[in-house]
Amino acid sequence: MLVRVLGTAAGGGVPQWNCACPGCAAVRANPARRRSHAAIAVHDSATGRWHLVNVTPDVTDQVEACEALRPEPGSRRTPLAGVILTDAELDHTLGLFRLREAEEISICATAAVRAALTDGLGVQRILSPYARIVLRELPDGDPVPLEEGGSLRVRAVPVSAKRPRYANALPATGLWSVALHITDGADGRSLLYAPAVAAWSSGLAAAVAQADHVIVDGTFWDDDEPVREGIGARTATEMGHLPISGPTGTAERLSALAAGRCAYTHLNNTNPLVDPAAPQHKELAGLGLRVADDGEVIAP
Ligand code: MLT
Ligand code: MN
Ligand code: ZN
Repeated sequence: MLVRVLGTAAGGGVPQWNCACPGCAAVRANPARRRSHAAIAVHDSATGRWHLVNVTPDVTDQVEACEALRPEPGSRRTPLAGVILTDAELDHTLGLFRLREAEEISICATAAVRAALTDGLGVQRILSPYARIVLRELPDGDPVPLEEGGSLRVRAVPVSAKRPRYANALPATGLWSVALHITDGADGRSLLYAPAVAAWSSGLAAAVAQADHVIVDGTFWDDDEPVREGIGARTATEMGHLPISGPTGTAERLSALAAGRCAYTHLNNTNPLVDPAAPQHKELAGLGLRVADDGEVIAP
């Protein structure tokens, strides 16, 4: 199994275009530390093609930054097979519109997420005149193959009932946000990708314990961070992201279940971890945890 980390930032990226907080300002002064929006690409060893997990506003830059994702010689011969979505949030879906030059865009997502794409974002209405849009079912529970003849299978693990704000008129029920347990039949290895964790469930814990590598929600360091940093009135947990540290944080749990094979992603620009010199990195290292980096390659 082969995974490429394309980006590791929460919505807005680091730096965020309208922000000069200490975190954003420091990264602006040192562009090597930039983080693009969180996404990964997973390689299918049977077909040789790649699947994008979440399609961010940075998607075309992320493709150019990764040699394996660039087109093969000739015209319009992309090694990208399709897209899987963990949710319908704008930072994970806006890039669909940047893929309009594709012949076909195959999107695997839960029923709730597909409804948001269709009835909220107008993906089919806007993109169908440009590309063939194929929507594929990501069911609750059972793993499904990602591609015919491929080696990868994906299973949805429910993590949150939070709808994107633009989809608030749609039914509240359904799988609005899931973690993805992706297994490669070629070597039996697996990855759990969970960029949003609203609550710690037994299903999530089981998937964390089972996966050979885990990439998980590191949006906020502590629960009060969004309020303290002045970006909103809600705590991290109220925003649908369990914090890393503190009594309700994910670090202790992840350390117990997945030390040495777990990395945080989806960092908000207020998170002290965006500074590589922050002491919080040592705290994580002591627990066998770390932060994923843009461009890194993981072989679970
Ligand atoms: C999230 O990760 O919770 C969303 O991206 C937040 C948002 O875009 O409103
Ligand atoms: Mn987000
Ligand atoms: Zn900022």
